[in-house]
Amino acid sequence: MSEETLSNLMNEQRRFAPPAELAASANVTEEAYERAASDREAFWAEAAERLDWGQKWDQVLDWSNPPFAKWFVGGTINAAVNCLDRHVEAGRGDKVALHWVGEPEDDTRDLTYAQLKDEVCRAANALTELGVQKGDRVAIYMPMIPETVVAMLACARLGAPHTVVFGGFSADALASRVTDCEAKVIITADGGYRRGAPSALKPAVDEAIAKVGDLVRNVLVVRRTGQDVDWAEGRDVWWHDVVDAASAEHEAELHDSEHPLYVMYTSGTTGKPKGILHTTGGYLVGTSWTHWAVFDLKPETDVYWCTADVGWVTGHSYMVYGPLANGSTQVMYEGTPDAPHKGRWWEIVEKYGVTIFYTAPTAIRTFMKWGDEIPAKYDRSSIRLLGSVGEPINPEAYIWYRKNIGGDKAPIVDTWWQTETGQILISPLPGVTSGKPGSAMTPLPGVAADVVDDEARPVPNGSGGYLVLTQPWPAMLRTLWGDDQRFKDTYWSRWEGLYFAGDGAKKDDDGDIWLLGRVDDVMNVSGHRLSTTEIESALVSHPMVAEAAVVGAADEMTGQAVCAFVILRESAGVQGDDLVTELRNHVAKEIGGIAKPRQIMIVPELPKTRSGKIMRRLLKDVAEHREVGDVTTLADSTVMDLIKSKEASAP
Ligand code: WT7
Repeated sequence: MSEETLSNLMNEQRRFAPPAELAASANVTEEAYERAASDREAFWAEAAERLDWGQKWDQVLDWSNPPFAKWFVGGTINAAVNCLDRHVEAGRGDKVALHWVGEPEDDTRDLTYAQLKDEVCRAANALTELGVQKGDRVAIYMPMIPETVVAMLACARLGAPHTVVFGGFSADALASRVTDCEAKVIITADGGYRRGAPSALKPAVDEAIAKVGDLVRNVLVVRRTGQDVDWAEGRDVWWHDVVDAASAEHEAELHDSEHPLYVMYTSGTTGKPKGILHTTGGYLVGTSWTHWAVFDLKPETDVYWCTADVGWVTGHSYMVYGPLANGSTQVMYEGTPDAPHKGRWWEIVEKYGVTIFYTAPTAIRTFMKWGDEIPAKYDRSSIRLLGSVGEPINPEAYIWYRKNIGGDKAPIVDTWWQTETGQILISPLPGVTSGKPGSAMTPLPGVAADVVDDEARPVPNGSGGYLVLTQPWPAMLRTLWGDDQRFKDTYWSRWEGLYFAGDGAKKDDDGDIWLLGRVDDVMNVSGHRLSTTEIESALVSHPMVAEAAVVGAADEMTGQAVCAFVILRESAGVQGDDLVTELRNHVAKEIGGIAKPRQIMIVPELPKTRSGKIMRRLLKDVAEHREVGDVTTLADSTVMDLIKSKEASAP
């Protein structure tokens, strides 16, 4: 973010107080902050009482071996039972859990809590039949269909950690994740609907398995689109053959509070994705309490919709575990916002009477571009609360969202968190906080965050620095799958005892927090996290590429966009547009469509320091069309002139 945008942000003076009616009946009030501050562990223990436990815990937090936390030590719990069985047993079995909306029009399904529970029990029995045992890892590579939620909860029920791989990721990305966590079974579908057409998934699974060898014993395939699939006899199994035939009776085992629930891979500053490990008890406490508090959820009357794909952490925490543990009724939509028309989301809001709506700034900016008249055609008056996640929301988008979607009355909760944090940590509370457009405001009750300088000193109000968390929280990651050392090095080594989030932040004069984006080699494109190094190694894996440097450049629509600078090998004959297209497609094949560079510049040299480190800062200046900064530490200071002359001659 440029200095200019930053100072514009800091001059933002608008405030939006909570609506009186909401404040009067809010789930959480001001008092929670004081209570949590006086005894953090007692506060989280009380939040834990909202769940059903087998054995109760003997200790709320064991922080005797930092940074390895244990929460609700000695407690036993089953996440699936908390999400389903307990609601059914309490007489809420007929309540709709999911209003599922397929992308093709009129392709919808409502699933009640009782139906979802039966499906999950059947799937758990079928997985057991396939030899899946407690502790085994199961990969899930699926479209946005109810079976995806069923598959996750069936794994949770068995204590078999799932690793959901976003359906937009490539076969290579799937293969590396399957290998890293040694998944025995992959659950997938023939395909899903996207942008008005079936989009295949099974071929990528076949390709991934060809790469990983005989690690994967079975592939369980949901029939969604009916498209042709290749079939490996003995390995591939249709979901409808084994799940539909299985019993809906399943005795759930209670798992240790620290039993692994899932692994979610996310990009780091190196090429190799990190397997973020979340465990059961603390994660469920953190996600369910924050979902109830931040969205002021009233399970009897609210219809909640989080538009995230279940393949990301937002889908895990705020579509599956948090909302279902709270007994919410929610919408789940399979497709894209423009299929078959640009009003699809608002049509769904109108049809189901959505009251709480949670999406990302990049989507909001897209709707701004499409025009106010599109949402205006639909009745959005049911909406009483709006959420934002994934990147800083710029004040223009905030105001547009509030006015055009929230009817100028619904408060906006700008929620800051990460795959690693598992739960929302910094956010307004809708019944308490007067929101400022562009600020995530303050740490939630029970959360300890600060902004510090290079020496780990908290910065005074009005100054910027690095965002850190100073105390453990229940849904925090426990480690990186199979790599405790990398876990320590990545998050805990910069300053003793502090979790470093990788984000820059500023405290304003009131002490409220404004997030300023990543300070490491991680980009945020449309709220998705991408690593510069990962894309660089994808480019270098192409036979014509000798060297590559990637930067995230500011982009009006996607927040940041991938810009690549590439040096070709001497042997590369063809050049020009065809090659650029080929390289862009190559990155999509290696990682996934979201990683495709917006721009690739073929350059003769890259700016390097004397020790050979690429100075991405200078490339970012070029990509953002700025005056190039200080070049005095370059080994060859003429390199930037060469690159700039290339840029000037580019079409
Ligand atoms: C990074 C985490 C949390 C689920 C989606 C992304 C950025 C996230 C906000 C926000 C400013 C935000 C941060 C963070 N981020 N939410 N409300 N305001 N920045 O999860 O892929 O793990 O990315 O997203 O940079 O570190 P993720």
